[in-house]
Amino acid sequence: MNAPPQQSEAARIDETLAANFRNAMRRLASGVALVTTADAGGARYGIAMTALMSLSMEPPSLLLAINRNASLCEPLLARGLFGVSILARAHQAPCHAFVTAPAAERFGHGDWTTHASGIPLLESALAGLVCRVDKAEPFGSHMVIRGLVDYVALDPSSDALIYLDGHYGGMTADE
Ligand SMILES: Cc1cc2nc3c(=O)[nH]c(=O)nc-3n(C[C@H](O)[C@H](O)[C@H](O)COP(=O)(O)O)c2cc1C
Repeated sequence: MNAPPQQSEAARIDETLAANFRNAMRRLASGVALVTTADAGGARYGIAMTALMSLSMEPPSLLLAINRNASLCEPLLARGLFGVSILARAHQAPCHAFVTAPAAERFGHGDWTTHASGIPLLESALAGLVCRVDKAEPFGSHMVIRGLVDYVALDPSSDALIYLDGHYGGMTADE
């Protein structure tokens, strides 16, 4: 049976809004991080992420939004601990290789090291953080995760990898 005209018009407007929203967010230039975890047996999991923001300095904390279907989501919540490796411009090729590899083969790309907690961090990242899950709340397709920062390693450089409009680029801060 055909949907009443009013309902199909509403659906069309929703589709337009969703498409416009997607295109609007593609215009937000973002830094890129590889977010990782490992289970008790040492199996490693990771995805590339842009939905990552600093939350508070007191306490040091951040927010992530992870698709609930991503291979990382369940193991991260089960472990309650995750790593954030903030990528440099030079990581464009290894990042693409990591993202496009099957989940089980991703850690063959990049100079991975293991933090004392067992969490994988990229040795050459601009910054590497280890965080504890403080709160996780589902919203739509994603899980919004609040993390408390336990550990930070810093690289002296700040030549960042940027993702904009579906493409990678690089950026250094103006003097
Ligand atoms: C540049 C970039 C940014 C991404 N940002 C996110 C993100 O913020 N949250 C998310 O859940 N997935 C994000 N993804 C998708 C994941 O990296 C991953 O490809 C997807 O979750 C499928 O993972 P799986 O194959 O391990 O299940 C991003 C992918 C790319 C290439």
